[in-house]
Amino acid sequence: MVLSLTMGEHVSRWRRLMIVFLALMIGLSCAKEFPKDVRKHLKRLNKPAVKSIKSKDGDVIDCVHISQQPAFDHPYLKNHTIQLWHLNGRCPENTIPIRRTMEDDILRASSVKRYGRKKHRNISQPRSVGPDQNGHEHAIAYVKGDKYYGANTTMNVWQPKVQQRNEFSVSQIWIMAGSFGVDLNSIEAGWQVLPELYGDSNTRLFTYWTSDAYQSTGCYNLLCSGFVQISSEIAMGATIFPLSGYLGPQYDINILVWKDPEEGNWWMLFGNKYLLGYWPSFLFSYLADSASIIEWGGEIVNLESGGQHTTTEMGSGHFPEEGYGKSSYFNNIQIVDGSNTLRAPKGIDTFTDHSNCYVVKTGDNGDWGNYFYYGGPGRNPECP
Ligand SMILES: *[C@@H]1O[C@H](CO)[C@@H](O)[C@H](O)[C@H]1NC(C)=O
Ligand SMILES: *[C@@H]1O[C@H](CO)[C@@H](O)[C@H](O)[C@H]1NC(C)=O
Ligand SMILES: *[C@@H]1O[C@H](CO)[C@@H](O)[C@H](O)[C@H]1NC(C)=O
Repeated sequence: MVLSLTMGEHVSRWRRLMIVFLALMIGLSCAKEFPKDVRKHLKRLNKPAVKSIKSKDGDVIDCVHISQQPAFDHPYLKNHTIQLWHLNGRCPENTIPIRRTMEDDILRASSVKRYGRKKHRNISQPRSVGPDQNGHEHAIAYVKGDKYYGANTTMNVWQPKVQQRNEFSVSQIWIMAGSFGVDLNSIEAGWQVLPELYGDSNTRLFTYWTSDAYQSTGCYNLLCSGFVQISSEIAMGATIFPLSGYLGPQYDINILVWKDPEEGNWWMLFGNKYLLGYWPSFLFSYLADSASIIEWGGEIVNLESGGQHTTTEMGSGHFPEEGYGKSSYFNNIQIVDGSNTLRAPKGIDTFTDHSNCYVVKTGDNGDWGNYFYYGGPGRNPECP
């Protein structure tokens, strides 16, 4: 083991508290004039609510009947029977919480069409270091070369500083198959600071999917039809609280994504407890069968200003060598194999495209299984 930590001592300090702020909604009347397509898009996105809740962070959460969620705008899901496990919680029965999209959210996007989507990009991979990754930089651990049917991990949650509004910092799982830049299928989940999408610098729970390398399919959360949510307790895109602090208590979240061998849908369990919903198998080509790469780790966007590397942080903003309570981590990294069994993956590799700026360092031990620390501060003397 590279990192001289005694993990056991800290185990009791872990907290797995997730509070998704929900409070009461006051009516919204907006006299402002917005372009017609913005209003049309809002009408498409924001489904009629049975109840609306205003959260402390300013979000409006709509409780939408489960059968009226965006997923069912998809023609393939017109007569879909919802795969239900359990429903309870704060939205009324048979409704799910959906973060309401506001005019300002869409107006911040480069176009109505791109709202809720990643920008076109040829993302970097474990993979040669490309000359132009559009400023995307990674520090990840990954496995490839086998057939994977899911992944499980616990990651601690921070609020990395994002220097510019159109940069971001995410920590997530990628479950992928296909070719980067061409027809990549990807299912993604984790936490992110993404001011352009949410209008603030909060750390938020998110999902993403694409079946064509981020070109015309897929989106974040429920911002297009695709992901079928069943949880009435957790809103996608909700602010995560509390967060880990430097030398303070550490808070982490668990994410498990796996493919149901019977129906072929990809399910997501959050916090070992909340079954959020699933990505129907038909959304994908390669992932309709299995994944061929799984990645865990951080990604940021660096839009160098004035020729300098951004100060946008990844993870905690501290390097792996600082260890527990200071650096950000993923632990208990597991994959689902061909026999539908969760196990430690063989042959974890790492990838960084700017290792003076953001670093990843793996290890394994009894308490944490396969784990890694990752991240960094961005601009520093070695990363000017
Ligand atoms: C849904 O059901 C209707 C009525 O039974 C049928 O006409 C339609 O073709 C079905 N659509 C799909 C996508 O299966
Ligand atoms: C996923 O990993 C967490 C620890 O990170 C563990 O508590 C949980 O049991 C795992 N899930 C399953 C289904 O084994
Ligand atoms: C991405 O890369 C692939 C192959 O490297 C190339 O064919 C494709 O045109 C690129 N796409 C974009 C949007 O740059």
